[in-house]
Amino acid sequence: MLPRPTRAARIIPALDLPTAADAAALAARLAPHAGPMKVGLELFCAGGPPAMQGVAAVAPVFLDLKLHDIPNTVAGAVRSLLPLRPAMLTLHAGGGAPMIAAARQAAEAAGDARPIILAVTVLTSMDAATLADTGVAGGPAQQVLRLARIALEAGADGLVCSPLEVPRIRDAFGAAPLLVVPGIRPAGSATDDQSRIATPEQAVADGADWLVIGRPITRADDPVAALRAIAASLPA
Ligand code: C5P
Repeated sequence: MLPRPTRAARIIPALDLPTAADAAALAARLAPHAGPMKVGLELFCAGGPPAMQGVAAVAPVFLDLKLHDIPNTVAGAVRSLLPLRPAMLTLHAGGGAPMIAAARQAAEAAGDARPIILAVTVLTSMDAATLADTGVAGGPAQQVLRLARIALEAGADGLVCSPLEVPRIRDAFGAAPLLVVPGIRPAGSATDDQSRIATPEQAVADGADWLVIGRPITRADDPVAALRAIAASLPA
């Protein structure tokens, strides 16, 4: 499994791009200055495994497909993904303990190359009102802690959560869970569709391990310069 990162290796650029060629080209430019690269739904749906392999040629891949289905189906999806050798793999904690346990068990077949299994708690785009619309009354922080406990007890190595929940997760579960944190916005940059956000410096100071950062890098006039400026702002 990937070691815990420091400095620039904490940054996971999100390659939310429509073609494999665009993603491979940007990954090659960013890789010397970053950690793993995120391949998510947009790119994987467009280009499939070859799109991921183009990125994997230059960096470990955070494969963010947010699997969410019955345990047997999710375990099968994990088995199908193992030959691609993702370094990190996501599933939705809301799928429940049996689904997460089935994914972890399926991943064990990769031995030392087992991907880090990360459970997505509450999407960083959701605020209390959108969460309440889905029937969850307690607010994001409470729901994140509930899902975190289920996921970690079922065998997830870590969590995907917003920066706002990192301190509470560290208080409740200590240093062991790997925390991957989207919803990162350098001071002064556009919020876009994100709701629960913080700056890169704040997220790391609070205990985040990796930062997933998309548009502030990919839509910058100079993505490499934007990435390097963020990396320079991080504590060691
Ligand atoms: O462009 P931006 O920095 O908002 O991209 C954030 C990335 O993190 C996106 O690729 C999104 O899919 C991902 N993500 C998220 N919230 C989660 C899990 C993943 O924004 N809870």
